[in-house]
Amino acid sequence: MIDFKDIIAKEISKATNISEKELESYIEKPKDSKNGDYAFPCFRLAKELKKAPPAIANEIKEKIILDENIMDKVEVVGGYLNFYINKKLLAKEVIEAVDKNEEFGKSDIGKGKNIVIDYSAPNIAKPFHIGHLRSTVIGAALYNIYKILGYNVIGINHLGDYGTQFGKLIEGYKLWGNEYDLDKDPIGELTKIYIRINELCKEDEKVLEQCRYNFKLLEDKDEYCTKIWEKFKELSLQEFKKVYDLLGSEFDSWNGEAFYSDKMPEVIEILQKTGKLQKSQGAEVINLEDKGIDTPCIIKKSNGSTTYATRDLAAILYRARTYDFDKALYVVSYEQTLHFKQVFEVAKLLGIDKKYTDGLEHVAFGMVLLPSGRMSTRAGNMIKLEDLLNEAIQRAKEIIEQKNPELEDKDDVAKKVGIGAVIFNDLANSRIKDEIFDWDTALNFQGETGPYIQYTYVRTNSVLQKAGDLPKVEDINIDYLVDEYSQNILKLVYDFEETLKQVTNKEEPSILSRYLIDLAKAYSNFYNENKIIVEDKDVQNARLYLTYIVGKVLKTGANLLGMEMPNKM
Ligand code: ARG
Repeated sequence: MIDFKDIIAKEISKATNISEKELESYIEKPKDSKNGDYAFPCFRLAKELKKAPPAIANEIKEKIILDENIMDKVEVVGGYLNFYINKKLLAKEVIEAVDKNEEFGKSDIGKGKNIVIDYSAPNIAKPFHIGHLRSTVIGAALYNIYKILGYNVIGINHLGDYGTQFGKLIEGYKLWGNEYDLDKDPIGELTKIYIRINELCKEDEKVLEQCRYNFKLLEDKDEYCTKIWEKFKELSLQEFKKVYDLLGSEFDSWNGEAFYSDKMPEVIEILQKTGKLQKSQGAEVINLEDKGIDTPCIIKKSNGSTTYATRDLAAILYRARTYDFDKALYVVSYEQTLHFKQVFEVAKLLGIDKKYTDGLEHVAFGMVLLPSGRMSTRAGNMIKLEDLLNEAIQRAKEIIEQKNPELEDKDDVAKKVGIGAVIFNDLANSRIKDEIFDWDTALNFQGETGPYIQYTYVRTNSVLQKAGDLPKVEDINIDYLVDEYSQNILKLVYDFEETLKQVTNKEEPSILSRYLIDLAKAYSNFYNENKIIVEDKDVQNARLYLTYIVGKVLKTGANLLGMEMPNKM
């Protein structure tokens, strides 16, 4: 599509001799379209040109020559230059672009670049709780969006399948394994064992020692410990898969923490050679005080076992070599900010190219709190994700039964709507915000929610179906798409690819969620204002095609967020 910003920047550049790139970064999109489609704030140049902004605006206006087939007009308002793009050109550009692209929004700007996304990563033998939902959903949305922009994306589920907690579980299982029915409710029963052994560890230092020793045995490939650990892992994965099936999640790699057990010696050796590995109370640590991080990064514990951080370092080394990444994103709660600061700093000592350490990024997100406070496995007040998702489907089903009992494939629609509601709820706000989890908000099917987007999409479908055949692009008279409501839609569609780019600039899927709500609202306004099926075929064709475009973008956008779209609801 024609690049309006670029055209404006070029003209202003000719008039001022300032670089196009600089100028382009100043161009704004006014909130109110009364102030134009694009605006240039001249105060940005006041210092450089030593003049008052309104004077600069007037001078630029005199000098620039804008093709009237591209811009309707330019106006000076105070220190601003307001540009009004040609409405017919906008309509023509958007229609042609949608018609030409099999997958509108797809591009190749990411060609040749590798993006590793580490997300989901639940812990074996612990419930897959609602805290992991955020990582799974944000990670999957980023994955899809990078992919449509042409990047080569590698999604990794860095399972928490290693660490001292397994020493504890092994001990608990040894002591009381026969009291629990692992086959019936594996994670539920293992959680009980975990809570119980933790209690015992608090009372008895010797038991705690034994637990730590068990993990050491596991690291040393002890046969008995390995066998129990494998059983825990298998049972847990079976449970996790149920949740992933409901969400439609897929991963390119399931290499969890244990995968790095034989890759840590190399890390430790490299760190030793740097001379920065220090002994501290029996443990081996890297001091990071001179980097402004007060807490040292523990590489090896006093009993010789490795840590979560050591495994992440081994993973960085492995991923740099295996995937040659341009960016490696870690979609993990902000509770782990310190961990990633430490690990990213120590990674600079691994001797890998600066390209890799520069590409490491913690994509932090807020916590999910219960109205009563935070959740913890030990306190036993976790909400299980599987329960949440099934409840969402159930509630969606009840609403369908009330509103549209004749609907075909009710179960399938209920699944798409219920899960869609949960996913969208999770992506609706900027990721860093804490979220107080509440059933009614998560499952709200009105207002700015996933079901509202699905509903708008379904509406576009039913309009198109009622009309019969989709008009040919050659048969569309763009004169009928210059009204305010049509133009609002066209402008949003024009911005679709730019919106996807912004998501990847900020690693912020909520930018797309917001966009889809805006588009759905713009269509609702258009629909309420303009009759679509009318006598005049020219009018009808134009409005039908616009409806088709909206449906297409809503569907692509919602799919990118990980939602499925029902055809009817
Ligand atoms: N399993 C960890 C947790 O639940 C998250 C792992 C995130 N990824 C990583 N490479 N550290 O807290």
